[in-house]
Amino acid sequence: MRAQVAIIGAGPAGLLLGQLLYKAGIDAVILEQRTPDYVLGRIRAGVLEQGTVDILDLAGVSERLHAHALIHEGVEIGAGGQRHRIALKELVGKVVTVYGQTEVTRDLMDARAACGAPSIYEAESVELHDITSAHPSVTFVHKGVKQRLECDFIAGCDGYYGVSRRSIPPEALSLFERTYPFGWLGVLADVPPAWDELIYADSERGFALASMRSETRVRCYVQCSLDDKVEEWSDDRFWAEFKRRVGEDVAARMTIGPSLEKSIAPLRSFVAEPMRYGQLFLAGDAAHIVPPTGAKGLNLAASDVFYLHEALTGYYKGDSRVALDHYSGRALRRVWQAVRFSWWMTSLLHRFPGEDPFTSRIRVAELEYLFSSEAAQRKLAENYVGLPL
Ligand code: FAD
Ligand code: DHB
Repeated sequence: MRAQVAIIGAGPAGLLLGQLLYKAGIDAVILEQRTPDYVLGRIRAGVLEQGTVDILDLAGVSERLHAHALIHEGVEIGAGGQRHRIALKELVGKVVTVYGQTEVTRDLMDARAACGAPSIYEAESVELHDITSAHPSVTFVHKGVKQRLECDFIAGCDGYYGVSRRSIPPEALSLFERTYPFGWLGVLADVPPAWDELIYADSERGFALASMRSETRVRCYVQCSLDDKVEEWSDDRFWAEFKRRVGEDVAARMTIGPSLEKSIAPLRSFVAEPMRYGQLFLAGDAAHIVPPTGAKGLNLAASDVFYLHEALTGYYKGDSRVALDHYSGRALRRVWQAVRFSWWMTSLLHRFPGEDPFTSRIRVAELEYLFSSEAAQRKLAENYVGLPL
């Protein structure tokens, strides 16, 4: 088999890159180790920046999004038993779009099927070869048969645990990492949200996030211990804990219901630099992870892919390799801004086990400053809606 670009991974990064390249007349094959249903079953992000929506428009996959997504002009921060609205639109002239990663992925999968571009699901034992030569290739096993895909470039869009980053010699990468001493327990349920906008709540019992997927479906999270197991959290226990943290008025008007999905995610910040090795380009979670507090993971995957598609399109149009050479630096500048913001939101809104009194007071002072200063609110808003591409 031959393609101009081999894309590893059919998460949002790989699928979106595939669609942008298809629009530009560049042929790509996507290799994904799981089944489409498995990929669609992963419940993850829910908030899209305007820049991400613009990229989905460019890829021609946003019709359903514009028909069904919810537009939020503000977001609420809870602390000290009170809530404060950050008026995103008023402060920075932009909004966020509430539309689940599952829906984005489904739209991208449908568009790829409609245009007949090849995706190979259940591709096992994916291996990258001759990455630093002009003729790299990828081998994999599909339905028991070993195959080779020859290509000009490989896009490593296979997430944090994928094979692409691990195919780069360790001495060629610098890794930056921070783990956090807690996780998020998330529940999806078919009940109408008792909130109009997302609520990020700090409480004595730890963080909680009230989010939604539609007017009839909520997504809620509570900060939990890394030792917790999903089985230890019955729906009743989850809702009781969530209510204690989100604020009394919201708790009083909430409807609860059985969970459709329940999972625990650890929180981590991670960056691998550079995002290129030879003909291999990393994009999305394959290169970096942010804690979910700033809602940046999916949005960063989209901006990486936008830059990569521009660089590849430039190359095939004959504009030399300069844009390819600039890909990593350009993407990393935006990545580090999101890493900084996500770390800040996480530090501001979570109780760290064993937090010393000085750190607690600084956190309270930071919250008070946020609630009393328009400048501080504008800074949060500017980052939350997404820095320019
Ligand atoms: P992924 O979505 O991870 O896709 C990578 C794909 O590559 C997968 O389909 C995988 O099966 C495939 N793959 C892996 N290895 C191989 C291989 N060897 N061969 C072939 N294919 C392979 N972000 C937010 O903004 N808010 C959230 O609430 C949030 N919650 C999250 C919860 C969890 C548990 C996780 C893991 C992430 C969460 N994120 C969240 C982050 C966000 O979902 C990711 O940033 C986003 O999925 C990145 O997309 P991606 O395409 O780069 O990677
Ligand atoms: C959701 C997840 C987030 O991490 C976030 O910051 C906002 C919303 C969600 O799943 O809806």
